[in-house]
Amino acid sequence: MPELPLDHVAIAVRSIDEALPLFERLTGGRGSRPERVESQGVRLVFVGEGATRIELLEPLSAASPVARFLEQRGPGLHHIAYRVPDLEAALERLRAHGFRLTAEAPSRGAHGRIAFIHPKSAGGVLVELVEAPVDS
Ligand code: CO
Repeated sequence: MPELPLDHVAIAVRSIDEALPLFERLTGGRGSRPERVESQGVRLVFVGEGATRIELLEPLSAASPVARFLEQRGPGLHHIAYRVPDLEAALERLRAHGFRLTAEAPSRGAHGRIAFIHPKSAGGVLVELVEAPVDS
């Protein structure tokens, strides 16, 4: 099993418009064009490029899981994302190791299919798996 490359680190924010300049100043990276991912209840931008990019997540409504996260913990680190070449194979391997998924079926993220490992089975960290080539 090869080591999984990091795809991005995600931060929950109340407002992308307000938070983006701070993360652009911090990293020297530029924000991408904002995208809406209705299935996740979020609007998002990426700051920077490659594996060091940061994803800023803003809830689309009060019913969004990110809205509940912000209510309970305030803005901050939301999840880390690893890139996997074959999502089904990765999920099967992780299930066999006792990791719990937040949903049985993968869903569609901003840039491909994704799945989440529940923080209760991952050391308190929400972990996203993004299906994408690992060699880039
Ligand atoms: Co993400």
